[in-house]
Amino acid sequence: MIDKATVAQILDAADIVDVVSDFVSLKRRGANYVGLCPFHNEKTPSFSVSRAKGICHCFSCGKGGSPVNFIMEHEQLSYYEALKYLANKYHIEIHERELTDEEKIEQSDRESMLIINENACKHFEQNLFGTNEGRNIGLAYFNERGFSEQMIRRFHLGYSIDKRSDLYDAMVANGYNPRYLFETGLCIASNDGQSGGYDRFRGRVMFPVLNLAGKIIAFGGRTLKHDKAKYVNSPESLIYKKSNELYGLYQAKQAITKHDKCFLVEGYADVISMHQSGFENTVASSGTSLTEGQIRLIHRFTDNVTVLYDGDSAGIKASLRSIDLLLAEGLNIKVLLLPDGDDPDSFSRKHSSSEIQAFIDEHEEDFIRFKIRILLQGCENDPIKRSEVITDVVKSISVIPFPINRSVYTQECSRLLDIDEQVLKNAVERNIIEARKKSYQRNNAPQAQQQTISTQPNTNGEKVAVSNNVPSDNEKSKLLYPYEEAVTRYIIKYGMSDFCDAIDENYETETPTRLTLLEYIDNELTLDEMHFTNHIFSKIYGMALGLIGNFNPTMETYKQKLDEECNTRRSQSIEQIRQECQSLDEINMREKRIDAELEQYRDEQLTTFRNNYIEKILCSSEDDEVRQMSIKLVSEKYHLSKIHTKYNKVQTEYDKLITLVPEAIYNWKSTLILCQIKDIRKQLETEEDPTKVENLLKQMQDLFALRSQLAKYLGERVVNPKI
Ligand code: CTP
Ligand code: MN
Repeated sequence: MIDKATVAQILDAADIVDVVSDFVSLKRRGANYVGLCPFHNEKTPSFSVSRAKGICHCFSCGKGGSPVNFIMEHEQLSYYEALKYLANKYHIEIHERELTDEEKIEQSDRESMLIINENACKHFEQNLFGTNEGRNIGLAYFNERGFSEQMIRRFHLGYSIDKRSDLYDAMVANGYNPRYLFETGLCIASNDGQSGGYDRFRGRVMFPVLNLAGKIIAFGGRTLKHDKAKYVNSPESLIYKKSNELYGLYQAKQAITKHDKCFLVEGYADVISMHQSGFENTVASSGTSLTEGQIRLIHRFTDNVTVLYDGDSAGIKASLRSIDLLLAEGLNIKVLLLPDGDDPDSFSRKHSSSEIQAFIDEHEEDFIRFKIRILLQGCENDPIKRSEVITDVVKSISVIPFPINRSVYTQECSRLLDIDEQVLKNAVERNIIEARKKSYQRNNAPQAQQQTISTQPNTNGEKVAVSNNVPSDNEKSKLLYPYEEAVTRYIIKYGMSDFCDAIDENYETETPTRLTLLEYIDNELTLDEMHFTNHIFSKIYGMALGLIGNFNPTMETYKQKLDEECNTRRSQSIEQIRQECQSLDEINMREKRIDAELEQYRDEQLTTFRNNYIEKILCSSEDDEVRQMSIKLVSEKYHLSKIHTKYNKVQTEYDKLITLVPEAIYNWKSTLILCQIKDIRKQLETEEDPTKVENLLKQMQDLFALRSQLAKYLGERVVNPKI
């Protein structure tokens, strides 16, 4: 909802070195900066930041990108949240798009509720640390449970005073609208409608529930007495849908990304104790069985989940079913069964971090294996029970979306249960077909839902499949992929750079028009009616063309600013020269030198601006696919040319564009021709009409001729195959 001008302003202000430095300590190395990658654990720095390019990149794990993308990945924010983060950092006021009236009401309701929760949380925290009741009861309880003050603060734990309307009175006295106290569920309206309201939470220790953005959306309150319900929770509301939230995720998300793994536990206390022991990648489903929404939430951050079970949990068998949901989402599931009598909370308090780690390393078990083991317990010799177990396990395997994983599990299962592998395979197949039939009937769609492998977060922070892989359906697109990719890369990296003279067929103008690299490519493609066949490249190409119109005005503005800067610098220098120099000759000489220097500086700045124009915009694009592909293409460490001149100056890619780009296009063309030849050959196989055959042969000859022509240009020898 941020307007375009502001987005541009934010992207412009964001300096990659500056942005990254907030999270990584960087050291200068040549033109770049390096540091330890924040996205994975490493001991030697492979994270490189280039100020000139406005991009960071880890040469080990491949993550990074533009400032927006870096913030999105590092803070696990959506595109707009990341923009807001940057705006805040650079003190840029955000002009948001006008909302519709309905949106406004909903927005302001939401916002009011979040503000109320925020302040209620502060009130509870203040109770805990600042009142006798809070300290004597609430804080004493937390201390007894071994929660450190750091954890109490990190999770914003609090205490609700044991009075009818302590919170209600305080909030109303501070001018908050009671309506939002009721809508958030913090308070309940009195029956008579006259005497205001009373508090939902009284005499309880408070656990606020934060959403991904760190806003408080609900509370859980645990009683410290024995007579009442152990927990009272906020009701669902406009801002709280229980099934879409995970307790602790806000505090855990960075660690989950970093370790590429998430521990799943049951309760508030489990999360806090695990975090306190250093296992910050822990979240809780808060007592309910997992929902699909919660699983998606985890999947945004990792593919790997380890579920922690209490050793004596009677509910293990019952909860196995909900794990199938995790499997179906394509997650890799492991299970950690804790020693008898321990839950994650007590276990992590009893042992040191390294003991816990050692226990995990030794006892973490693959889910399917765990399931077989648990289900088989006690019924090894009961054939009926055994066959039930097999059916159940086969069901679990069938929901796994990846064939390779399924077959690995089928093998394993066959070994563990001592059953013929083929029998299991058939059973799995049958289940899959059955499930497809059902989904077909449900959706009335001709094919089962396609599975995608997720890798990177999109604008909403969700993972989407990135077109790193060649699209599978179209063979021609596949064949052309590397060529289209190469040309797209040149466009992104150098699209607006000054490239060559336009061919002026009539020799009408004295000075030929100069073409940018993008215009040159556009001409070439139009002349030969060539198109990008891969969706992503075609999209990027379209966007790049769309940038041409805006380029000149932007460039002009930039030039003006640059000229102003140069003028100021010039007058300053001249002032200085006048003061320092004795003779007119010296003054003239130094002035000339200054002018030459400034001229060179100006040229360099303009060239940099030109060359980076498209790259900067596309690498910060709101479109996930475009942004990720652009970053991927510009981050690739291209092979530095091996050509050294006798002066040992390395020629850069930029220096060689004038030969590299036409080469890339001719290579593409040549492959395109090959496709056409193949096509004709196929037609010839079935064509019987002699005139048509002759025609096809003629076409084929032409294509071969064209191809040799191209080959000559490319300096490669082509042997035309016999037909
Ligand atoms: N829960 C709930 N309402 C209840 C009971 C449980 O919402 N009446 C949720 C809470 O999120 C709780 C989780 O289920 O954290 C696990 O329940 P339990 O193990 O009973 O709670 P703990 O937090 O472990 O409490 P404690 O160890 O303090 O007894
Ligand atoms: Mn517990």
